[in-house]
Amino acid sequence: MKLSYCFIVIHSIFLFLCFTFTLSLAENVTYDSHSLIIKGQHKLLISAAIHYPRSVPAMWPGLVQTAKEGGADVIETYVFWNGHELSPNNYYFGGRYDLVKFVKIVQQAGLYLILRIGPFVAAEWNFGGIPVWLHYVPGTVFRTDNEPFKYYMQKFTTFIVNLMKQEKLFASQGGPIILAQIENEYGYYESGYGDAGKRYAMWAASMAVSQNIGVPWIMCQQFDAPDTVIDTCNSFYCDQFKPLSPKKPKIWTENWPGWFKTFGEGDPHRPPEDVAYSVARFFQKGGSVQNYYMYHGGTNFGRTAGGPFITTSYDYDAPIDEYGLPRFPKWGHLKDLHRAIKLCEHALLNSEPIHISLGPSQEADVYTDSSGACAAFISNGDDKNDKTIEFRNVSYHLPAWSVSILPDCKNVVFNTAKVRAQTTIVEMVPEDLQPPPASPTIGVKTLKWEVFVEKPGIWGEADFIKNVFVDHINTTKDTTDYLWYTTSIFVNENEEFLKNGSNPVLHIESMGHALHAFVNQELEGSASGNGTHSPFKFKKPISLKAGKNEIALLSMTLGLATAGAFYEWRGAGPTSVKIEGFNNGTIDMSSYAWTYKIGLQGEHLGLYKADGLDNVTWLSTSKPPKKQPLTWYKVVVDPPLGNEPVGLDMIHMGKGLAWLNGEEIGRYWPIKSSIHEECVKECDYRGKFLPNKCRTGCGEPTQRWYHVPRSWFKPSGNVLVIFEEKGGDPTKIKFSRRKISGVCALVAEDYPSVESWLESANDNKTKTSAYLKCPENTRISTIKFASFGTPTGTCGSYSNGDCHDPNSTSVVEKLCLNKNECAIELSGGNFSEGLCPTATKKLAVEAVCS
Ligand SMILES: *[C@@H]1O[C@H](CO)[C@@H](O)[C@H](O)[C@H]1NC(C)=O
Ligand SMILES: *[C@@H]1O[C@H](CO)[C@@H](O)[C@H](O)[C@H]1NC(C)=O
Ligand SMILES: *[C@@H]1O[C@H](CO)[C@@H](O)[C@H](O)[C@H]1NC(C)=O
Ligand SMILES: *[C@@H]1O[C@H](CO)[C@@H](O)[C@H](O)[C@H]1NC(C)=O
Ligand SMILES: *[C@@H]1O[C@H](CO)[C@@H](O)[C@H](O)[C@H]1NC(C)=O
Ligand SMILES: *[C@@H]1O[C@H](CO)[C@@H](O)[C@H](O)[C@H]1NC(C)=O
Ligand SMILES: *[C@@H]1O[C@H](CO)[C@@H](O)[C@H](O)[C@H]1NC(C)=O
Ligand SMILES: *[C@@H]1O[C@H](CO)[C@@H](O)[C@H](O)[C@H]1NC(C)=O
Ligand SMILES: *[C@@H]1O[C@H](CO)[C@@H](O)[C@H](O)[C@H]1NC(C)=O
Ligand SMILES: *[C@@H]1O[C@H](CO)[C@@H](O)[C@H](O)[C@H]1NC(C)=O
Repeated sequence: MKLSYCFIVIHSIFLFLCFTFTLSLAENVTYDSHSLIIKGQHKLLISAAIHYPRSVPAMWPGLVQTAKEGGADVIETYVFWNGHELSPNNYYFGGRYDLVKFVKIVQQAGLYLILRIGPFVAAEWNFGGIPVWLHYVPGTVFRTDNEPFKYYMQKFTTFIVNLMKQEKLFASQGGPIILAQIENEYGYYESGYGDAGKRYAMWAASMAVSQNIGVPWIMCQQFDAPDTVIDTCNSFYCDQFKPLSPKKPKIWTENWPGWFKTFGEGDPHRPPEDVAYSVARFFQKGGSVQNYYMYHGGTNFGRTAGGPFITTSYDYDAPIDEYGLPRFPKWGHLKDLHRAIKLCEHALLNSEPIHISLGPSQEADVYTDSSGACAAFISNGDDKNDKTIEFRNVSYHLPAWSVSILPDCKNVVFNTAKVRAQTTIVEMVPEDLQPPPASPTIGVKTLKWEVFVEKPGIWGEADFIKNVFVDHINTTKDTTDYLWYTTSIFVNENEEFLKNGSNPVLHIESMGHALHAFVNQELEGSASGNGTHSPFKFKKPISLKAGKNEIALLSMTLGLATAGAFYEWRGAGPTSVKIEGFNNGTIDMSSYAWTYKIGLQGEHLGLYKADGLDNVTWLSTSKPPKKQPLTWYKVVVDPPLGNEPVGLDMIHMGKGLAWLNGEEIGRYWPIKSSIHEECVKECDYRGKFLPNKCRTGCGEPTQRWYHVPRSWFKPSGNVLVIFEEKGGDPTKIKFSRRKISGVCALVAEDYPSVESWLESANDNKTKTSAYLKCPENTRISTIKFASFGTPTGTCGSYSNGDCHDPNSTSVVEKLCLNKNECAIELSGGNFSEGLCPTATKKLAVEAVCS
């Protein structure tokens, strides 16, 4: 609006007026001890991390909008160097890597942006975001006082800064970018690099500051950051964090509202009550910028997952799920929290707090600004016991591990432990792969599979032969996950094992990450490391015959290391191969002549790309082979019905890679997590969170579904290509639609809310309501459960308590049936007034959306 006004003015004689107006739009972002100052105003900012390459451009506007509705003022992203500089000076900004488009979408939504350039980012992203080619520029050592590294880092940082300047995207130019980050969590590793580490960190800061961007630079977890940058905190809790200088605002760059997944482990969850607690504590203690890392985690498409062993899903248990749907109740609870905090913004940013101790782990912080406006945060850090405390002559009940927010120092509008937000019932609705409509001449609709089976071992010309094991990563340079190591062993007829029927045992030691062993073209077994320990040992009896036996090892990487001092030097691949059980004892084959081949034949032929689909002779069949290793499958499918997000169900497959229409879905591997892991049925939100505290999914596949963005589908003729390493059942591959089939709410009479506080200003009566909302274009069709009284249980398994209003269902039906959303007031005559007067009553509702 303002800009178009400006353009009209440009064409008139008031050019000068317009010019000054434009200048006032574009002001440097500054700061003081309270907060950032944008266009002269102190700002309290809720920020949401969304990484552009972890979704697709078609999803960006929706994700940004959902973040905005959730109460975000800012979108934060890293910049992914290895996705942008494919080889020195060869830049890419298309598709998922269209950074400028992403920033402009954020701008159009009226939000700010935090640009964490890094360009080292960690982020569970392959190689921490640094291009693999840079490791092979002679003399390069990452992230220290090293000339080649600093040269390329400065060049890329400058490239990005100039791109943003060119597009006028810094706030100082009228754009949305209010902060930029250089380096990333270097403080943990700086001492590992000796004096050079410190020199490098100081160089990075001054290199950044010299870019003159007109917005502050930050460095996170940088414990010796120079005064020219703002040091910031990354952790599950940052209430106790203090920036190095009292003149700087307190900024939390990474609040982890969940955690990432690792193949072979369970599902981490961080309870919404604890996320809200950590955020409320941060603002209670004077924080002014808080970023959820991640707000939408998304997907590690293709081979972008770092690791080793980070899953293709980067869902993160974030407030927006991998598929782009708000995750309830987390998204809703945090939205309520943000509203409550925003009511306190002016007092928080314009006064010094008065701290009041109310008990051993109970405290209040009271902010009163010059206008007399007063806001208070009262917290109970006891991780077991609720407490009733007195504050300003009023008594307040505080659940264990919770914060109450009082925007007027009197009324509680939010308590972090009282989740009023609804929950959703999310299903993955399976759907068989649908063949294209049958042609009239054939008549029957069947899936037509095309199959290409690779021969184990060397295909085509060998790349080289060596009598030692070469390092896997040094050899592939990460152009592929796969490297073949092959050799042969001659077995004399007089070997005892040939006669007595025993099997010799193959022993392999590998630095990682995984391996399939083939003997005479047969898959004998597989082994892999895990997220905490990538080296592994393989030990298995094998069948050998008299004469020459071929040993072919398919070694694999599953994402390169993402962090740690000198992380780029970590190797992978076999280091020892022996066979036990010969007449001579154990034969060490490690210095045999090993023949190497980089990558798969199908990869070289580009079988998954549009222009490579015809580069082999596929075998056409309606019965594709099962349990067949090293197999490429190709099938043409229709898009799944409806418009819900789609996951590819790979539970019946082994391990491999998948593509749709040439777009890289990514690595699939439904490896199960150990049943010995610690999983919980119910998660106790109270007490400090750690990633393994609230795991689920023990003994289940870490990742069963693989996100296929809707925008990758064409109306017909979609080509799905799968490369299966060890054997699966392709006929059981399905698409699943992620569908919200129902909603639940469980609200107690004493749950505060911003709405009721705002309303009570008029009639002095606090009202408590439950809210239900089905997805767009659906309605509440059935009330499956409703009880006003003392219901118990969780969504999907509520039951009546001792106290129950028999009219509950009819009351809720009257208010909600056939509506997209509804509110049900707990007090005020909807339910019988005199019901069990001593109990704190609750309303539990489960509804079906259709
Ligand atoms: C804005 O910041 C830039 C770069 O830091 C600086 O050169 C310029 O003088 C600043 N402008 C104002 C008005 O402070
Ligand atoms: C609390 O009560 C005491 C004694 O009745 C009174 O002196 C004091 O002013 C009250 N404080 C507030 C904040 O109302
Ligand atoms: C068969 O011979 C091998 C090699 O000498 C020996 O290691 C193994 O123990 C024997 N097995 C049986 C069942 O005798
Ligand atoms: C990972 O592997 C190491 C070494 O084999 C083992 O000690 C550890 O228990 C494994 N961890 C998991 C989570 O499986
Ligand atoms: C990879 O190659 C480099 C350069 O030859 C060497 O210094 C390094 O040790 C190798 N890495 C491994 C893990 O073998
Ligand atoms: C077993 O040892 C003999 C004598 O050292 C050697 O000639 C032969 O090659 C060995 N066999 C194998 C399979 O290594
Ligand atoms: C597939 O074959 C065509 C021609 O036969 C060739 O131009 C193309 O490069 C091949 N595709 C790939 C990805 O190798
Ligand atoms: C609201 O209640 C307070 C005491 O609880 C009373 O002093 C005040 O007059 C009431 N306001 C209205 C508008 O009824
Ligand atoms: C019942 O709840 C609805 C919706 O919150 C509200 O509008 C109404 O006033 C309540 N009371 C009665 C008696 O219906
Ligand atoms: C249930 O609803 C009926 C009809 O509206 C009413 O007569 C009855 O009193 C209600 N029962 C209770 C327990 O509120």
